[in-house]
Amino acid sequence: MKSKIYLAPLRGFTTFVFRNVFSRFFRGTDLAVAPFISTVSSRCIKNSLLQDILPENNPEMPVIPQIISKDAEDFIAMAKRMGDLGYDTVNWNLGCPYPQVAKKMRGSGLLPYPDKIDAFLEKVIPAVHPLKISVKTRLGRYDAEEAAALMPLFNRYPLAEIIIHPRTGVQMYEGTPDLDIFEKWMQCSSHPIVYNGDIRSAEDFRRLSERFPRAERWMIGRGLLSNPFLAEEIRTAGGEWPEKRANSFGNPPLAVFRDFHNALFAEYRPVFSGTHHLVERMIGYWHYFADAFAENRKFIKNIRKCRKAEDYLDTVGRFLETEARWKA
Ligand SMILES: Cc1cc2nc3c(=O)[nH]c(=O)nc-3n(C[C@H](O)[C@H](O)[C@H](O)COP(=O)(O)O)c2cc1C
Repeated sequence: MKSKIYLAPLRGFTTFVFRNVFSRFFRGTDLAVAPFISTVSSRCIKNSLLQDILPENNPEMPVIPQIISKDAEDFIAMAKRMGDLGYDTVNWNLGCPYPQVAKKMRGSGLLPYPDKIDAFLEKVIPAVHPLKISVKTRLGRYDAEEAAALMPLFNRYPLAEIIIHPRTGVQMYEGTPDLDIFEKWMQCSSHPIVYNGDIRSAEDFRRLSERFPRAERWMIGRGLLSNPFLAEEIRTAGGEWPEKRANSFGNPPLAVFRDFHNALFAEYRPVFSGTHHLVERMIGYWHYFADAFAENRKFIKNIRKCRKAEDYLDTVGRFLETEARWKA
């Protein structure tokens, strides 16, 4: 069966603007989980809170919305609102590692408390039916041993799927994903499992899919931002797509990337009121985009100094037209 590749949620990066432009230029991803939306205590949930997942803003790529919350009632209200928008599945964020989130017992901050997760799911799942719940989790907050309590707990509920990033919360992005515990989880789970973490190349994907031959769902975040052709490359390297379908429309990667970048800039322009925020947002992407280029140090130094849209476009334009060497 064909593998499914998900674009991971990266708050501030994989916004609806990015997802739409990305899917116009690059192929191979099947769907995206949207970055988390926090619940609110008010039962009047404004459309502005849901902007990222409004169906009219998401014509290109199928999306699963994600909620971060520790409060079952607030979650139910938010999930139902998403159901009203036409979604049939909502993802619960149990993985966010950032201390300011986790210390409020949200995201990975809930993982040391399986009783609370249990009580939450017991309340939420029947209340939102027929809407389905999936979870995105890490192995624990402090210790991967926390996973031992989570695996049987999740098995007791009819979850749509479990997305696992096999690190602990306190690890943030340090160290390597713990593939042994992931394997255990796959073996004992009664739900479909999505592997997520550190897939940076078609070779990484090959290694992981050999290790987990039963895995059919894969989520990629930073790897797709650093090399937006990655999903195409994975499908071509695996023989699923013939060579000529790869490298979007047969154009050289650098030319495709340049058009993608310019389209992203143009689509973001009306979203931000001041050009400072627009430029800041675009520079943020270069934290990842830069990985695709050899000899990029001088450019990175220059781009970080840009404050005005014109300077930014000039600097990027010069780099992409003359110095840039695609290495991804
Ligand atoms: C800047 C940033 C923002 C993120 N935002 C979210 C988020 O909103 N929801 C979520 O579930 N995970 C979030 N993540 C985690 C990613 O979805 C993913 O699990 C993680 O980056 C590991 O996958 P990767 O190695 O393929 O990037 C974020 C990660 C980063 C680096």
